[in-house]
Amino acid sequence: MSNIEQTLSIIKPDAVERNIENEIKEIFKSNGFSILKEKKIQIEKSEAEKFYKVHETKPFYNDLCSYLSSGPIVVMVLEKENAVLANRELMGATNPKDAEEGTIRKKYGISIDKNSVHGSDSVENAEIEINFFFKD
Ligand code: CMP
Repeated sequence: MSNIEQTLSIIKPDAVERNIENEIKEIFKSNGFSILKEKKIQIEKSEAEKFYKVHETKPFYNDLCSYLSSGPIVVMVLEKENAVLANRELMGATNPKDAEEGTIRKKYGISIDKNSVHGSDSVENAEIEINFFFKD
């Protein structure tokens, strides 16, 4: 049975700054993802704090929110069969040094903070994150 899902992807400031956003988009497309919506934006720190609210008790929360709001990002809605898991596999481990060959974070990630991409971690969060950036 088919299980087409949508997930939210963010190309983070470190990748936009290095002008590799198109390369990353091509990786998504060549792995069968459709980019249904996309926009390049810069968000306020207060918006990053809302977006990453699940991490608010973590020691890295403040730096994480400063970082996501530090420069332009590209937010996208990706669609594919089992998109949430497929995107997480394609991104690789959160820390690029633990990411497997062939993953986006292995190829482009600089550090656990500058790990080039974000992807929703569950179908439930994908819906919340898509609505966060793309309210119709
Ligand atoms: P992301 O998938 O965007 O979700 C939260 C982000 O927090 C994560 O990627 C990392 O870039 C960042 N982060 C920083 N430190 C940590 C940590 N110790 N564990 C998990 N995520 C971290």
